[in-house]
Amino acid sequence: MRETFAPDLDEGTRRSLDVPPDLLDLPPDEMRRLGHVVVDLVVDHLAGLRERPALLAGDPATLRAALGGPLPQGTGDPAGDLAAGLDVLATTAVPYQQHGDHPRYFARVPGPSSFAGVLGEWLATGTQSIASSWGGGAGPTTVELVVVEWLREALELAPGTEGVLQSGGSTANVTALLAARHRTSPDGTTGVVYLSDQTHSSIARGLLSTGWAPDDVRVLPTGDRYALTADAVRTAVVADLAAGRRPAVVVATAGTTNTGRVDDLDGLADLCAEHAMWLHVDGAYGGPAAVTPRGRAALAGLHRVDSLVIDPHKWLFQPYDLACVLVRRPGALEAAFAMHPEYLADVQGGDPGRVDLHNRSLELTRRGRAFKLWLTFRTYGADRVAAAVDRGIGLAEYAQALVEADPSLEVVTGASLGVLTFAAPARDDAAHRAAAAALTASGWAAVSSTVLGGRAVLRLCTINPRTTTADLDGTVARLSALLSADA
Ligand SMILES: Cc1ncc(COP(=O)(O)O)c(C=O)c1O
Repeated sequence: MRETFAPDLDEGTRRSLDVPPDLLDLPPDEMRRLGHVVVDLVVDHLAGLRERPALLAGDPATLRAALGGPLPQGTGDPAGDLAAGLDVLATTAVPYQQHGDHPRYFARVPGPSSFAGVLGEWLATGTQSIASSWGGGAGPTTVELVVVEWLREALELAPGTEGVLQSGGSTANVTALLAARHRTSPDGTTGVVYLSDQTHSSIARGLLSTGWAPDDVRVLPTGDRYALTADAVRTAVVADLAAGRRPAVVVATAGTTNTGRVDDLDGLADLCAEHAMWLHVDGAYGGPAAVTPRGRAALAGLHRVDSLVIDPHKWLFQPYDLACVLVRRPGALEAAFAMHPEYLADVQGGDPGRVDLHNRSLELTRRGRAFKLWLTFRTYGADRVAAAVDRGIGLAEYAQALVEADPSLEVVTGASLGVLTFAAPARDDAAHRAAAAALTASGWAAVSSTVLGGRAVLRLCTINPRTTTADLDGTVARLSALLSADA
């Protein structure tokens, strides 16, 4: 081999390159020791969850004082600085949040992550796992493709269904809707999209921010069913056709955030087939219920939809962040998102078996997000995962029985996919909001209020399999007492 020639560098350039190459590295035994500190912190967090608040609010000045200050310059002792920094984060940042993994966190949508999921996430992060191109990440790409296929199987969707992992329901729904728009509006116009007044707010935001014409977005009322019927959409479609508009996409929800109700998926699938519309289903929180027989029954028609979003970081026991877009038509994501710049030619796969996941959404550099879910299924098996989901469905039914047994309370919407809403008929909106706030501020449990039919109600989301019946007994009893305290 030819000898290398000494490059002709000026002294300043040479000196700047003479800094040691291990500028940011620590010796392996130090990394191991500090890594174990994090393991201990996480295990202490998980083992002691029950004894700590379900949600802890923070004070801006106190938090800034502990975490802020001028840009740090380091002391020359990276191991010491790292240990001290971890301690500050663990004691000052970590406690002040909603603990979605806490057994008495019932607010909004909990995130009861599993330890297998946590370890999968750590492994992916620590090894800079990337699932962007086939050539640059065949291993993590394969893990992601396998996980998407396992999800398809667990949800009993049609063979051939493809997908891609995303950061959360908001981005995943936009990804699916951009694919829908590409398919239904090849000329670049948008066509009419039908939502309901119970559709998650991130969807209208996503549609408008990606250029959907505002007067092509129809928000249909659901009344006191809180679910979209095919008849309601049909009436709107007929009116739009008569007005010369082009119906293009229906967005249904499989488990609305407010009530857990499910839109008429079968009826909407029929309607969409009739009018060549794309049926997208937002199953971000409720979709995973289809891994259980009673969830599948509640979600009848799910296998017929054109695209579906589920959030494993909600009800499949994953650390944030993890959502999945599934499309029934192979190639639908690539049709909307594929790009082939010259500088990626070396790593792009080029045949159907060598998938470039950066061509399935707006993400180019994308972390290997699938390890955690792969490890969860591999560790617990689909049957235990399904049993854990089923427990969440049953816990909401138990909470409903508690509310029914309390003469001061009434059920507003019955248990549906792990969500129950209820109210104290004798009390006003402010009292309901105050009761939710007071229980949450006490730290014992965290609950939400929401608005249904124009009035404030209380809402419990019971999808954490670690929740016990005693947790629910205490929560409903405390809320009932708070609502009667100053009646
Ligand atoms: C039905 C539904 N869709 C979408 C979202 C948004 O998901 P994310 O918060 O992961 O972006 C949520 C969040 O709760 C949801 O419940």
